[in-house]
Amino acid sequence: MEGMERTASTDRRPPGAAGSGPPRNVVLIGFMGTGKSSVGRRVADSLGFAFIDTDQIAAELAGKPIPEIFAQDGEGRFREWESEALRRCARLERQVIATGGGIVTRPENRDLLRQAGYVIWLKADPEVVHRRVARNHDRPLLQTPDPQATIRDLLNARLPLYRACAQEEVNTGDLTLEETAHGITESCRVALGLG
Ligand code: S3P
Repeated sequence: MEGMERTASTDRRPPGAAGSGPPRNVVLIGFMGTGKSSVGRRVADSLGFAFIDTDQIAAELAGKPIPEIFAQDGEGRFREWESEALRRCARLERQVIATGGGIVTRPENRDLLRQAGYVIWLKADPEVVHRRVARNHDRPLLQTPDPQATIRDLLNARLPLYRACAQEEVNTGDLTLEETAHGITESCRVALGLG
């Protein structure tokens, strides 16, 4: 409605994280181009949490950027570094953890994600994803003759996996980064029991 403040439209489920007490971290999952890192940095600032990114840790562990890992060692090796990165993140507290879009493909990661904290799924339609990543060449899985079709196929395959991990879903399509981050920050305050 005109004049109303736009906030992230969220679909929240009861927290189901393992262990007692509120979750220790915020975990952002979702497809490439949904804004996990940009939103995550803003949410971390607002909550006074640290920000970490499994892609960045995986690249540090491998000693090379992600495109080089894929080109030289293959996707399987990248997934091993990524799982190790997530294991390290899951031991921490008061972190906003942004994750790579394919992290949900390994069952062990899905368990770890839920244990690591309050899991929020950033969603966007394939067309929106394509628009956001089109000019970017650092995502090896999208270097195909028809990136739009690749996005659609990967997204379809992963939807049930994101859904299985997430305690909250946020549609990012019509929102600015600031609006998405604001909505997520507010619901994290409640979910994590922060005053
Ligand atoms: C991937 C997503 C990327 C990165 C790698 C593989 C995927 O992260 O982990 O290129 O399988 O969807 P972002 O989601 O941060 O782009």
